[in-house]
Amino acid sequence: IKSQPTIFVIFGGTGDLNARKLAPALYNLYLEGWLPEQFALIGTGRTKLSDDDFRERMLKDINEFSRSGEAKEDKWQGFVPNVYYQAADVQNADTYQEFANRIKQLEEEWKTEANVIYYLAVAPNFFPVIAENLSKAGLTTDVERTRIVIEKPFGHDLESAKELNKLLGCIFQEKQIYRIDHYLGKETVQNIMAFRFANAIMEPLWNRNNIEHVQISVTEQLGVGERTGYYDGSGALRDMIQNHLLQLLCIVAMEPPVNFTAEEVRDRKVDVLRAMRRFTPDSVRDSAVRGQYGPGWIEGEKVPGYREEPGANPESNTETFAAVKFFVDNWRWQGVPFYLRTGKRLHRSASIITIQFKDVPHSIFPPEMADTMRKNRLVISIQPEMSIRLQVQAKRPGVDMVLNTVDMVFDYKGTYVAQAPEAYETLLLDVMLGDQTLFMRADQVEEAWDLVMPILNAWQNRASQNFPNYSADSWGPEVAEALVAKDGFHWFTIP
Ligand code: BG6
Repeated sequence: IKSQPTIFVIFGGTGDLNARKLAPALYNLYLEGWLPEQFALIGTGRTKLSDDDFRERMLKDINEFSRSGEAKEDKWQGFVPNVYYQAADVQNADTYQEFANRIKQLEEEWKTEANVIYYLAVAPNFFPVIAENLSKAGLTTDVERTRIVIEKPFGHDLESAKELNKLLGCIFQEKQIYRIDHYLGKETVQNIMAFRFANAIMEPLWNRNNIEHVQISVTEQLGVGERTGYYDGSGALRDMIQNHLLQLLCIVAMEPPVNFTAEEVRDRKVDVLRAMRRFTPDSVRDSAVRGQYGPGWIEGEKVPGYREEPGANPESNTETFAAVKFFVDNWRWQGVPFYLRTGKRLHRSASIITIQFKDVPHSIFPPEMADTMRKNRLVISIQPEMSIRLQVQAKRPGVDMVLNTVDMVFDYKGTYVAQAPEAYETLLLDVMLGDQTLFMRADQVEEAWDLVMPILNAWQNRASQNFPNYSADSWGPEVAEALVAKDGFHWFTIP
């Protein structure tokens, strides 16, 4: 299915997100034949550039960041006439008149009306002014054809998220608003829905009767680097847990939706957030820990601690690591802990969900045979490895009866030849097609903020920390180990 004629207006067209993600994603969609015949991308930014300057920059970005490698001359020549640039001061009403003219001109050329998508790849303080100015210029009234895409951070806390939702809600209908959480566009994350709801054997096991606990780890080797300006006011809980990790939890924990439509799927996810146990100041102490990285060595190279990153506050107490134990208080999950952890400058980059099943009720094997017997685990690797492994016990070959753990594996690399699309390709195409399934609805965002607010508040009240408390290239602070150890568990090794 191709979308209607489409005009993509990217605010922040000269920024990092467009360079690394949006431009390469649109180009790859073009290569794979997903863009409509009548398509235009209008980049906008404060810098004065001609269409040709912008096109040149874009080619450079695509060559550097596209998964399909350097653009081939003939393909690029096919794509580039659709790319335009318009210098814009987002505070100035005239800017929006110019957009209106540009859109009208394209529609006249195409002899048809176009869908217009406004992509706000800018700092969040510009969201309100852009939305309001679009509205004043009369650019938002066509509910069927106009859409707005908002990047995270969606609010800084519950109150600001509500305010932003309210403001957007005065200008747009919810069906026009696409709040991006790029984790939802990842191929392996979408596959969790397929795995759970297209296989009859999983559902009967997927509950408190069989599952002992769940771990969701998103570890990153990269440090905060140049992003301290944004990150210092954010921290790992806001940057990763409030959105990406809680979304993963929702997909693991949700009830089967009635069908695969946006409202059904999002209703079931919001049910999970609503069922999640709220924290009190006391339970925050028991359930949430944080850390900040110090200097260290990564692959033979010395790397600075967070407080020494460019532009960082040398006394910053912002967390670069967070681990939280959550509970989902409903029939399916009562008593099953969900441990979530994420951090920067850890030993390895990997996003993995592990579901640990309960022990066999009774072992028929004596200890000498079953020395290495483990509980069953389902390991869903989101990245960099893309796989699902079911860890089961098997008899080791030999005349004696000795058990060990083996993997039943579904591995993307070994199964499919086609390269998986980047998350942004999937998401941008969905915006064009008007499918909101993989986007955050207003109530989801607010529930997730509501859930983490007591942790943020408690941490703010106990700001002074013994930071740094983990060194670069480690697996995080000791308190994270203690969080799971006191329940008799350990964080699973990331291969
Ligand atoms: C972003 C965060 O949303 O996700 C970054 O702001 C983080 O801090 C990134 O590095 C991780 O995304 P991915 O796709 O590389 O796992």
